[in-house]
Amino acid sequence: MSAFATLSSGRLRLRRWRDEDRDAFAAMNSDARVMEFFPRRLSRAESDAMVDYIEAHFGERGFGLWAVEVLDVAPFIGFAGLAVPRFSAHFTPCVEVGWRLAFAHWGRGYATEAAQLALGYGFATLALSDVVSFTSATNHRSRAVMERLGMRRDPAADFDHPAVPEGHPLRSHVLYRIGSGSYLGTC
Ligand SMILES: CC(C)(COP(=O)(O)OP(=O)(O)OC[C@H]1O[C@@H](n2cnc3c(N)ncnc32)[C@H](O)[C@@H]1OP(=O)(O)O)[C@@H](O)C(=O)NCCC(=O)NCCS
Repeated sequence: MSAFATLSSGRLRLRRWRDEDRDAFAAMNSDARVMEFFPRRLSRAESDAMVDYIEAHFGERGFGLWAVEVLDVAPFIGFAGLAVPRFSAHFTPCVEVGWRLAFAHWGRGYATEAAQLALGYGFATLALSDVVSFTSATNHRSRAVMERLGMRRDPAADFDHPAVPEGHPLRSHVLYRIGSGSYLGTC
């Protein structure tokens, strides 16, 4: 396993982060449409701290939330990849697959394609047996990505996200799972 793995599909490249990505990432994180299902938008400092955390995760684990590039179209559109959640819940420790794209790049299949690359890497190279994904119950676009990936919701595993304040409408989360044996991705 390489700590510097780059993953490619016909349209996308998933790569390690560059300093030049930080401006576009901060713009995404201050966009109310992108952050609709998070408790609040991020400041520039919080956005940069998230990039630092993601890069540290790559250093520690050898995988992470890759920066996503659309070949010949856009050098950075957001992130997609694998991460070990920092919080404790009934399903942790685990590896999650996650995504966040700039609004201008929604509706083109990029999130699903990027997540397929990440899952393929997780199952084939990292030999993971299971991967989860979770989101606020009302985040239907994100749930649709999970369903396109062939992930199955585990209704018994719904949970209140510990990082979202009690009583907040986004606290209620759904959990989806996929096992290496049922992954049909092509990557
Ligand atoms: C969640 C998120 C990544 C989903 O983005 P998305 O664009 O809906 O998902 P995809 O990239 O997989 O694109 C799928 C759409 O592209 C369409 N599409 C267009 N061209 C396509 C192509 N060549 N191949 C596949 N799909 C294509 C699909 O039909 C689908 O359209 P639909 O939404 O009308 O059904 C995006 O909404 C986002 O970044 N949200 C903010 C962050 C967030 O909430 N993250 C999740 C937190 S857990």
